[in-house]
Amino acid sequence: MKLKLKAEINGVNGVSSVCVGRGLLQDLGTIAAEAVKGRNAVVVSDSNVGNYHLEPALQSLRAAGFQAESICVPAGEDSKSLQVLSTLWNAFHGFGITRTDLVVALGGGVVGDLAGFAAATWLRGVAVLQVPTSLLAFVDSSIGGKTGIDLPFGKNLAGAFHQPVAVVADPTVLQTLPEPEFRQGMAEVVKYGCIMDKAFFEALEKAGALPYEDAFLEDVIARCAACKIDVVNRDEREGGLRMLLNFGHTLGHAAEKVLGYGFVPHGVAVGVGMVAAARLSEQLSHAPAGTAARIEALLQTLHLPTRMAEIGDGLFTADNLFEAMLSDKKKLGSKLHFVLLRDIGEAFIAPLDPALVRERLPEII
Ligand code: GLY
Repeated sequence: MKLKLKAEINGVNGVSSVCVGRGLLQDLGTIAAEAVKGRNAVVVSDSNVGNYHLEPALQSLRAAGFQAESICVPAGEDSKSLQVLSTLWNAFHGFGITRTDLVVALGGGVVGDLAGFAAATWLRGVAVLQVPTSLLAFVDSSIGGKTGIDLPFGKNLAGAFHQPVAVVADPTVLQTLPEPEFRQGMAEVVKYGCIMDKAFFEALEKAGALPYEDAFLEDVIARCAACKIDVVNRDEREGGLRMLLNFGHTLGHAAEKVLGYGFVPHGVAVGVGMVAAARLSEQLSHAPAGTAARIEALLQTLHLPTRMAEIGDGLFTADNLFEAMLSDKKKLGSKLHFVLLRDIGEAFIAPLDPALVRERLPEII
């Protein structure tokens, strides 16, 4: 096994070590044993991932001396709920998880957010180790310590910053990821090119259609992880810079909310939101003409939708999207905080008058 990336996030509550490398899942137990003093571990996974990766994860932990148990939650966004969170707390109690023990989140964004929040809140915080199994989790959600659940009135409304003691990212696990799941993760990959790495965006344009060769995919994951680590190291608690990672999310989250959470994959909604945000950047004369078309062309090459009508034909109006946007966390005070582009690779936060956004919505979606 060769490490492609090993880097650290120096968070306010400790160091989070992020490792990317093919075959790394075998070393999960060794990495976990270095990270915590306790020898009880509970692996949280879901009904999809559990079938493929749970046994190797448990074996590796047990070989390293852990008393390892597991709990599977139903796959899907609905599991990011208070009810499922409480099921995890019950399981932690049953397994005798103490302050020095470990929660392992083995899964995609839902499992990572849910298990991370369960760990953050159990006994006022026990260690969590993230083992991402979806592309979206590899490049975004497993890194940086955001955890949480959804509430009936919005996504991720109850949550905590809880840095994982380690992120163990083994790209070989992506071989079992269904193709649409992989594709939606590519929207978050493109996002890094749009907001902070023009050369990376150009490399993706040059690479063309999926599937990628293993070595290129490993490069892509390591490059995105490095971008995210850099951002989180400079702004762990999202005081400013980290908000750039929300490029495409203001309208993306609004679309998810209008359609009902879980109806459209998060990455797909973000892709559509990125094109709309790039169009708004052009209309407000921040970005050169053609910026949005370039992002749209790359997403199309990856077979990702780029217009609202493609993900919910006839279901969106400027009014229902606007209302959903206003209830989102990104509205601070009387302004809507929109991530816009100056160019591919250069993003900034624009505090926009909501009335202006409402006026422009019909043209940008
Ligand atoms: N997913 C955005 C962030 O971690 O800040």
